[in-house]
Amino acid sequence: MAFKLTWIGHATLALETNGYHVLVDPYISQNPTASADPAAIAADYILVTHGHGDHLGDTIEIAKRTGAMVIANFEICNWLEKKGIKVHSQHLGGGFHHPFGYLKLTKAMHGSALPDGSYGGNPAGFLLTTHTGEKIYMAGDTGLFGDMQLIGEEGITLAVIPIGDNYTMGPDDALRAVKLLTPEHVIPIHYSTWGLIAQDPHAWAARVQAETDAQVHVLAPGEGFIYP
Ligand code: NI
Ligand code: MN
Repeated sequence: MAFKLTWIGHATLALETNGYHVLVDPYISQNPTASADPAAIAADYILVTHGHGDHLGDTIEIAKRTGAMVIANFEICNWLEKKGIKVHSQHLGGGFHHPFGYLKLTKAMHGSALPDGSYGGNPAGFLLTTHTGEKIYMAGDTGLFGDMQLIGEEGITLAVIPIGDNYTMGPDDALRAVKLLTPEHVIPIHYSTWGLIAQDPHAWAARVQAETDAQVHVLAPGEGFIYP
């Protein structure tokens, strides 16, 4: 197994790769669809795409309990460091070889204010190259942007993208994103957490399957995608 990616619900992902537990945007205790216990979930690293509450989530509590290192942009890391959290800051376009893989921050078209109104820098996505060479693109909260084509040029094994509309790409633009990214596999997230972003992921999957070569995996909260 190169990696296992479990969708906890909303935009929260639990990735297992090279023996490490990497949590992404751990919004669990306040998440009406979450499938995990924030007081028990494992984390060696926590990746935070941006400062909004539905992504920062339980980062502080989980990092304090587990001793996990948080990886995010410089502004979010400064804010967390003042709260006693162990951090590694990066920024858009920059990559670093972590023990779990080579992680690059990518552009996202969104906001990033922190819960207390502090400036959270630019929002980000993540492009992770695993120890076995697979590339996982986690778009974060974003609208469609043409530079997804540049990200696609890297050769994406798995793309995890929002389809909920209202705050992020909706189904139409997410389909266009798949055409720019040309991933082997796609997992839709950030939908149906609340009525405002209700979507039918199976209808979307059927459109993607009809118009692209990507394989879509509609996960239930708590369900994992194992590669290969
Ligand atoms: Ni957001
Ligand atoms: Mn969000």
